Amino acid sequence: GGGHPDRGLAFRPVASQPADVDALVIPDGFTWSPIIRWGDPILPGGEAFDIGSQSAAKQALAFGYNCDYLELLPLGRGRHDWSGKGRSGRRRGRDLGTSALLVSNHEYTNAGIMFDQTYDAVTRRAIERAAHGMSVVQVERRREGKPWTYEARSPYNRRVHVGTEFVIDGPAAGSDLLKTAADPTGKRVLGTVNNCAGGTTPWGTVLSGEENFHGYFRVDGTDPRDARYGLRDAATSYGWELDEPRFSGHNDGYENESRRFGYMVEIDPYDPESTPVKHTAMGRFKHEGAEVILSDRGHAVAYMGDDERWEYVYKFVSTERFRGGDSLGARRHNKGLLSRGSLYVAKFLGDSTGEIDGSGALPSDGAFDGRGVWMPLLIDGRSAVDGMSAEEVSVFTRQAADAVGATKMDRPEDIQPNPVTGKIYLACTNNSQRVPGAARGAADEANPRDRRVVSGATETGNRDGHVIEITEDGDHTGTTFRWNILLLCGNPEVNESVYFAGFPVDRVSPISCPDNVAFDSAGNLWISTDGASSPMGRCDGLFKVPLTGRERGHVQQFLSVPAGAETCGPIIDDEDGIVYVAVQHPGEDGTFGAHQSYFPDYLAEGQPAPVGAWRGPRPSVVQVWREGSRNH
Ligand code: FEO
Ligand code: CA
Ligand code: CA
Ligand code: CA
Repeated sequence: GGGHPDRGLAFRPVASQPADVDALVIPDGFTWSPIIRWGDPILPGGEAFDIGSQSAAKQALAFGYNCDYLELLPLGRGRHDWSGKGRSGRRRGRDLGTSALLVSNHEYTNAGIMFDQTYDAVTRRAIERAAHGMSVVQVERRREGKPWTYEARSPYNRRVHVGTEFVIDGPAAGSDLLKTAADPTGKRVLGTVNNCAGGTTPWGTVLSGEENFHGYFRVDGTDPRDARYGLRDAATSYGWELDEPRFSGHNDGYENESRRFGYMVEIDPYDPESTPVKHTAMGRFKHEGAEVILSDRGHAVAYMGDDERWEYVYKFVSTERFRGGDSLGARRHNKGLLSRGSLYVAKFLGDSTGEIDGSGALPSDGAFDGRGVWMPLLIDGRSAVDGMSAEEVSVFTRQAADAVGATKMDRPEDIQPNPVTGKIYLACTNNSQRVPGAARGAADEANPRDRRVVSGATETGNRDGHVIEITEDGDHTGTTFRWNILLLCGNPEVNESVYFAGFPVDRVSPISCPDNVAFDSAGNLWISTDGASSPMGRCDGLFKVPLTGRERGHVQQFLSVPAGAETCGPIIDDEDGIVYVAVQHPGEDGTFGAHQSYFPDYLAEGQPAPVGAWRGPRPSVVQVWREGSRNH
């Protein structure tokens, strides 16, 4: 219903924090606490975290490292009705009640700050493998609007890691391109890696993007189809090829193992026994995330970014339509929607005359905007690309997109539809290589900056990133769209090449490197950032941006994460007065014993650390709630 007092979550913005501030800074009137930290036990037999007594077996029973995407799914009676009534993909409030499932990705590991010195390299690597993947954890609270605690002994709790079995489906399932010595069927694969952002489906499953999978495999290196993904014949920094033959393509029968990663995966958190799926129909690239929305006629539509410099934006449209009703049969049908469909890649066409000069100055028609086309790569599971089979399009999707001339973007990260308006928001985080005269791409209207001027000095590259607003011409299944740039990010106090949708730049919070996007129930955009410390000298944070009326473009910082950390997985439950974030890689640039962060278990100043105890940093899921505003 409308008129909820907390709709849109009002707050007084926090100040931007210098990059070395080791604190979670939140607005006045709010309180924060961790819900769960790296190493907290979640499965039977798990033990309390102890930095000096880790093992792969313990880690496999505990919350993983570097939490990224987050979702909270209602668990209470009558609240997880995935019939499509309140959750048709345009849901507003979350209505979580007092019992929920927290789903988290664990993107990667930071070996330099995870271990004391008591483990050999083989043990360390085994712990790191077990710390990757995903977690499902039940959480409970006394009342709505109040903070949660996690339930260590719930039958729903689950860890997915590098040893978990997945099913491969879609056009490439069973293809010779995916067969290995351990899996002659080409339909079963162990594990998922580098799970970055994700999304939730209208049928109550969670999607998770396998992003920088190339960093885990050594390959033969002679096949240009592998090189296109950055796969190389070189020792990996993880070193897993020293432990398991499948991580090296030099081992007989494992030439294809790396081609079994780089997909969008789907997990059903309500069924701990279910086998998660890798969807080849959604293409193979460095998947950031995918939020599913239903079209007017019930097709499942997912927008997806390939997070690397010069890569593309994609859209998947299911062949089958969503089936309503609360039957098991309907849910089983809906869980198959991402297995077959049409896959498109975006071409952005500007409409200004004359050159885009790369400085951020507005073009001839006064707006960075234009039209766009979704160009087909697969149509209902069949190839739409000359010279490539559907299997090849599904496994070597980047080559397929190259062939049709898609637009090379400045690291497209999250792209999500606004559940209130249906408009789509794309975060282009940055591109250090978009420099004046760059052979791979001059500044264009959709990626219009190749330099910035900071305090009078010119620095090349799109360092601060931008946000694009997309409006489909038809419903979400359409093949043409209009677009405009909402934000050219940066710090307006020192950076002249910024744009905040026309809002006065002296009144906004500085923002750089937009990564994840989310929405509150009023349709405001929320942006979390990754990398602000390097171009802007500031801690990363979470920002609210109204999209309509006089406040459109008024970027306001809600929180700032500790030194070295990135803000991930934001969930904005404004009706509940609670914001959730994953604080990923706090103290990332530190080494053990010399880390720059003690997050989240800070001790008061002057208070000695308990003997033998480890006090951070530990990547954690954090809740930030409004004090005393709710009385249910
Ligand atoms: Fe893992 Fe694109 O951030
Ligand atoms: Ca224009
Ligand atoms: Ca990300
Ligand atoms: Ca990122």
